[in-house]
Amino acid sequence: MHRIAVIPGDGIGPEIIAEGRKVLDAAGERFGFEIRWQEFDIGAERYLRSGKLLTERDLKALSQCRAIYFGAIGDERVKPGVLEKGILLALRFYFDQYINLRPVRLLEGIRTPLADKKPKDIDFMVVRENTEDFYVGIGSRFKGKERKDLEVVRELYRVKFGLEVESDAEEIAYQIGVISREGARRVIRYAFDLARKRRKKLTSVDKANVLTEVYGLWREVFTEEAASYSDVTTEFNFVDAITMWFVKNPEWFDVVVTPNMFGDIITDLGAMIQGGLGLAPGGNINPLGTSMFEPIHGSAPKYRGLGVANPIATIWAGSMLLDHLGEHQAAEAVVRAMEWSIARGITTKDLGGQASTSDVGRAIAQYVAEME
Ligand code: IPM
Ligand code: MG
Repeated sequence: MHRIAVIPGDGIGPEIIAEGRKVLDAAGERFGFEIRWQEFDIGAERYLRSGKLLTERDLKALSQCRAIYFGAIGDERVKPGVLEKGILLALRFYFDQYINLRPVRLLEGIRTPLADKKPKDIDFMVVRENTEDFYVGIGSRFKGKERKDLEVVRELYRVKFGLEVESDAEEIAYQIGVISREGARRVIRYAFDLARKRRKKLTSVDKANVLTEVYGLWREVFTEEAASYSDVTTEFNFVDAITMWFVKNPEWFDVVVTPNMFGDIITDLGAMIQGGLGLAPGGNINPLGTSMFEPIHGSAPKYRGLGVANPIATIWAGSMLLDHLGEHQAAEAVVRAMEWSIARGITTKDLGGQASTSDVGRAIAQYVAEME
């Protein structure tokens, strides 16, 4: 028996999560385990109703579960950043989910926008650091006081980290990225271990040629760790360059390890080369704590309630969740069932099909249930 928390969230979140649950329940029946779901009312609706983002009670209850199945967050009635920071990022940080694992894999039967690339060419894992870098939330904004003649009074701004910034600009804003040796080490080690189980190649992403402090440290830690994984081939890519290679030579990559913000950016590109955002899953992993699995796309409010959202990213995230729980056979079966539904053309509009969100979920669940 597995206790799993569910946060359907906003927009299309509830629809896609419903399909994911169907499939995981079917996998449980087929492979002999039970999932006990505990649903949480966390998201825009509750926030608008009560002003609550994440409560102590939520966190306490969530921490009783090994995994959280997360739909999507974001609503046009709420200022950008409030729900993202107050819920999604808050969960990643609170549970110290320091690995954001994002497979970039072209499934059989899916068209990639990259001409001439086949499923064997697009099959790598991005390991995104998930708790540091520019996501730490250290930053501020200052406005100079306006005088009657509309000139700005020069002020001395005092900010954290012992910096003294003197500026007579009308307004300044700053944000700081932080990398710690431990933070870099733990995610880089995870990536090396993963590479060992795959094709034994690890690419590190940074921008150490410009942001020499933070990514200099990242590179230093990577080099140190590489010494104890001599069986793994390593390389460095600057983040701007890796976007070219993802498009031109995706077959070069096996495991890619990246600081948080670059990981955010390059995994949307990764999603596109694997056929679109509707197909891209992710896991926010704390190997010793509560992990969280979600599609990497957002809540797409304009498609809410229309039954057109592709549930595959969420179902695939569900497969990752099963894998994380040790249900490896069931996890594989779910991916095979996804491929089966794609081959049969049971797909949503984004993939050129005519099936609804629940048609796809139902077909995949049924295939899993009846699988040999
Ligand atoms: C992602 C998303 C989030 C991120 C947002 C919604 C906070 O873009 O999961 O990639 O930036 O990490
Ligand atoms: Mg993103």
